[in-house]
Parts: sequence; structure tokens; C-alpha cells
Amino acid sequence: IWQVDRTERHLENNPMIIEAAEILRQNDVVAFPTETVYGLGGNAKSDEAIQRIYTAKGRPSDNPLIVHVASKDQVDAICTDITPLARKLMNAFWPGPLTLVLPKRGDISTRVTAGLSTVAVRMPNDPIARAIISVANLPIAAPSANLSGKPSPTLAKHVIEDLNGKIAGIVDGGATGVGVESTVLDCTTTPFTILRPGGISKEQLIDVVGLVSDDPALTRTDQTPKAPGMKYKHYAPKALMYMVPKGKETIQALVNHDKEHGQRVGVLTTDENVHRYLNADVVISCGERAQLSTVAHQLYQTLREFDEANVDVIYSETFPDEGIGQAIMNRLSKAAAGRIIE
Ligand code: TXA
Ligand code: MG
Repeated sequence: IWQVDRTERHLENNPMIIEAAEILRQNDVVAFPTETVYGLGGNAKSDEAIQRIYTAKGRPSDNPLIVHVASKDQVDAICTDITPLARKLMNAFWPGPLTLVLPKRGDISTRVTAGLSTVAVRMPNDPIARAIISVANLPIAAPSANLSGKPSPTLAKHVIEDLNGKIAGIVDGGATGVGVESTVLDCTTTPFTILRPGGISKEQLIDVVGLVSDDPALTRTDQTPKAPGMKYKHYAPKALMYMVPKGKETIQALVNHDKEHGQRVGVLTTDENVHRYLNADVVISCGERAQLSTVAHQLYQTLREFDEANVDVIYSETFPDEGIGQAIMNRLSKAAAGRIIE
């Protein structure tokens, strides 16, 4: 574990960054922070490195990885047919939490793309991630650095909980900023299609390209998602979780009912309402409802805390389905396996 301060100047000269990059060049795997969540990086050109990523995470091999670059020039070696509209998005949001799915070009391990003809690429906006990728001077495949099925890591300690002993090292740069993963946008369709809502909102994308659609599987369970990773049960806490859009009074009544039946009950709430569930066993605020980015920032950590608190059931408040709220609701809905109390 290497502690690195992301505000340090000339990170590319930091010996720990150089060592992490060297390990990547030797086709081993290292976890590092990005602005969204911690990633587990490996050389995207090496079958051996990519196999190590899948093995460490216990990830199904049909779920492709995102290739991370340190500069926009690097993408032309990875994908082809980059339309002017896709370039416009790179210029608007890179470096940043937007992943573009584009036609693949030869130089990447076929395991990265799980045999697909497309590849997902993004340029992260974290100085540590960018320094490591640029010193390694390679395209770096990096899924979230959690065990498959666990919430993505937003602190180095989450990576340690999940992957200690299974990877060559962890660069600890403190808490990640956004807290949910990048938006995955398929640029091979007209209009472009959101496969996974994330750090860049639909409204932000529309401002730049005019029109985007949602993968139908984001709202309907009878459709197969186009991003293979979206079909897996994800981010599931140990307890049974329910989303409760009706809000406080309904949650209070549910808590009372379950307590009478001997259950240990948790409530996932916000700063505004945290004092309203005195009867619940564990009440965790994941941020300020008035400032949804704070909720995204702490959501995964909150889910991990519920696991530690050993509750039987979790009732969660819900959030408006706009801006970063779309990503928050997508992840909550996965954590709850779609269970919702109307
Ligand atoms: O914020 C992020 O994107 C983080 C950080 C580390 O960059 N990474 C991340 O990677 O979330 P991962 O592997 O946990 O999620 C990648 C998602 C999966 O749902 C995967 O199926 C989808 O992207 N994906 C990757 N390549 C694809 C492709 N060619 N076509 C469609 N979906 C793809
Ligand atoms: Mg992931």
C-alpha cells in the first residue's frame, strides 16, 4: 500500500507512482484511485494481465473492461470510426467520468472486450490515475477494484477488504470524488445510448449532442442490457433492501412493523431526515438530499456500513431521477434487486 497525495506536483516523478507503473509494465495488477471509484489496473495489451484482473475480482469472463488513457491522442490506437459527435463529447467531458463505447481496433487483448467488436474507453480525471497511466505509457484496463458483486470501492480500505493478498499493490490517494462509476455511452448507435448512468448526467450529454437514448434495460426487466456488466446482480448488501418512494411516514410504519416481529432494521436516509427514525436499529445518512452529489459520494460506503451493522432489512429513501440522481437510483435499485414498496 502506497500513500500518495493527489495534490502533489509532478506526480510522475513520485517513486511510488513509478513503481506502480513499473508493475503494470510487468503485466501485474495494481489498484489506484480514479475520480469515480478505485480501479484495478492492468496492461490492456496483455492477456496475462487481463486474466489476473478477472481472477482477482472473481469476475465473469463475458463482462468486458474499460480501457483508461492518459491523453486523447491515445484513443486512436484503441478504436476506429470516432465520429465528430463522439470527439465533441471527449472535448467536453474528458478528462472525466464518461466512458465511450466505440468500434475496437487491433492492439488490445481480446479478453478486455470479452470478444466484442467494440471497446469502452475513458480518460479519468484523477491526477494519480493519469500519472500512473502516463508513466506506464500503456492503455490500462481497469474495472472497479471490488470483488465481483460487492459495492465499488471509494476508499483504499474497501479495496483492502476485498482484494488484499490477491493483487500486487494499492495506491491509496484517499476518498474518490464522484463516488459512483462513469457513465457508459454507446457511440455506435444513432442517437448514442446510455448503457449505464453515472458521473456525467443525461442532461449534460444532451447539452452537447442534442439527443441521447437510454438502454431499454435500464427501466425494464424483460430486456437484456447492452453493457454485459449491467445484467449481473450488483452492489447487493447482505440484508434484504427495499426502496420506499413514499417517504418518511411509510418507512416509520415499516420499521415499527418489522421491529414487532423481532427484525433488526436499518434505514438509509439523508441528513435532512436522519433524526426521524428513532425506532430503527441502524440509521445511516448518505449525504444531503439538497446536494445529491454528496449522496453519490457516500452511497457505496453506506452500503458497506450496513453490511457491517448486520441488519436483516434495510429501507431506503429514494431520489429524483434526474442529474446524478439517475445514477444513484440505478445503483440503489440494483442493491435492492428492484424491490420497491409503492
Ligand atoms: O468509473 C468507472 O467506470 C470505473 C473506474 C475504475 O474507471 N470502472 C468501472 O469498470 O466501473 P467496471 O468494469 O466495473 O464496469 C464497466 C462497465 C460494465 O458494465 C461493462 O459491461 C461495460 O462497462 N462495458 C465495458 N466494455 C463494454 C463494451 N464494449 N460494450 C458495452 N459495455 C461495455
Ligand atoms: Mg464494477
